[in-house]
Amino acid sequence: MARVLFENVWKKFGDVEAVKNINMEIKDMEFLVLVGPSGCGKTTTLRMIAGLEEVSEGKIFIGDRLINDVPPKDRNIAMVFQSYALYPHMKVYDNLSFGLRLRGIPKKDIDERVAHAADILGLTELLDRYPKQLSGGQRQRVALGRAIVRQPQVFLMDEPLSNLDAKLRVQMRAELQNLHRRLKTTMVYVTHDQVEAMTLGQRIAVILNGELQQVENPISVYEKPVNRFVAGFIGSPPMNFVKGIVKKEDQSIFFECESFTVPVPKDLGQYVEPYAGKEIMFGIRPEDIWDSASAGWIQEKVALEAQVDFRELMGSETYVYVKVGQTPLTARISWMHDEISGSKLDVVLNLRKLHFFDIDTQKAIV
Ligand SMILES: Nc1ncnc2c1ncn2[C@@H]1O[C@H](COP(=O)(O)OP(=O)(O)OP(=O)(O)O)[C@@H](O)[C@H]1O
Ligand SMILES: [Mg+2]
Repeated sequence: MARVLFENVWKKFGDVEAVKNINMEIKDMEFLVLVGPSGCGKTTTLRMIAGLEEVSEGKIFIGDRLINDVPPKDRNIAMVFQSYALYPHMKVYDNLSFGLRLRGIPKKDIDERVAHAADILGLTELLDRYPKQLSGGQRQRVALGRAIVRQPQVFLMDEPLSNLDAKLRVQMRAELQNLHRRLKTTMVYVTHDQVEAMTLGQRIAVILNGELQQVENPISVYEKPVNRFVAGFIGSPPMNFVKGIVKKEDQSIFFECESFTVPVPKDLGQYVEPYAGKEIMFGIRPEDIWDSASAGWIQEKVALEAQVDFRELMGSETYVYVKVGQTPLTARISWMHDEISGSKLDVVLNLRKLHFFDIDTQKAIV
C-alpha cells in the first residue's frame, strides 16, 4: 500500500514558515494535485515526501512506514521536475536505463523495464535517438520514462508540463491520466495552474501561504469552495465578488449593495439571516449570469440592467464585462446576438448559484 499520510507537518526555513501544519492523506493509487499560487509551499511539500527536504515538525508516512528519517533512495518514490535535464550525450535508451544500471539491476530486467516504459509512453521507435533529435513533448516523455522504470510506489511531479506549449500541455495531460490508469500508482502532482488541477486531479489540494485550504474532488471544490480564496482561485474567469449588506424584510432575506438588491432563496437565506444588518461578501460565477434572452429556463432569478464595458469573444462563448450601476460583473454567455452587443444588456442572476462569505473570516457561509 502506498498512501502518503501527513500528520501535523511543518517546514520552517529559519523564520520562513513554508508549510504550516498540514494534515492530509493521499490515498493509495490516487492522483492528487497540489495547487496554489507561487510561493505557497507546493514544491517544499513534495520535496519533504521525496526526502530532499527535512520535516521540521510532524510526521510523514508512506504506506505504514514513518519516513521522516528514511534516506531518499530508500523511499521508493520517483520525482519528475520542471527542468528535467536529460543527458544530452546519451540516447533515449541510455537515458532511461542509466539510473537502473547504477543500482546494479541485471541487464535483462533493465531491458524489460525500458521496453515496458517505452511502450506505455510511445517511445519504442525513439530509443536510438539523442535528446536533441526529439520534440519537447517527446523529451518530456523520456523524463517521465526515467521515473517509470524505477517502478516507484509514489510518483512526485513538480510542474512537469510547464516548459511545453499550450497544445502539447493538453496532450500530455491526457497522456498523464492514461499513464495513471495503466500504472495504478499513487501520484502527487504540483501545479500553480488551476485548469491543470481541475482536469488532472481525482482530488485537488488547494494551498495558500503554506496552509491547506481544501482537499476534495474538483467538482466539490468548484461548487462548494470553503472560503473566498478558493472560490476566487479555482475557475476562469474568476468568481465575481461584491461587498454588501444583508437585509431582512418581513420573512425574506435580501443582499443589498450600492448598485442592486438580490433576494436570497429561502433555503440559502437561513444561513445568511444571522448576518442581517451586517456586511457580507456576495459571490457569483460568470456562467451563472445570463443574458435575459437565454434565461427563460431559470426558475429563481433576478434581472438587472447592465452597461457593457467590453467583451471577449472566445468562439463558443463570450465573456462580457458589464457594470450594474457602479458594480463590475463578468458574465460568461454562450453566444451573443448582434442586437445585444451594444452598450445595454439585461443580465439575469441564477439565484440557486449564489455564494456568500464572511467578511472577517473569509469562510463560505453557503
Ligand atoms: N531553501 C529555502 N530557504 C528559505 N526559504 C525557502 C527555501 N525554499 C523555499 N523557501 C520559501 O518557502 C516558501 C515556499 O516555497 P516553495 O518553493 O515550496 O513554493 P511553491 O509553491 O513551489 O512556488 P512556485 O509555484 O513558485 O514554484 C517560499 O516563500 C519560499 O521563498
Ligand atoms: Mg514550486
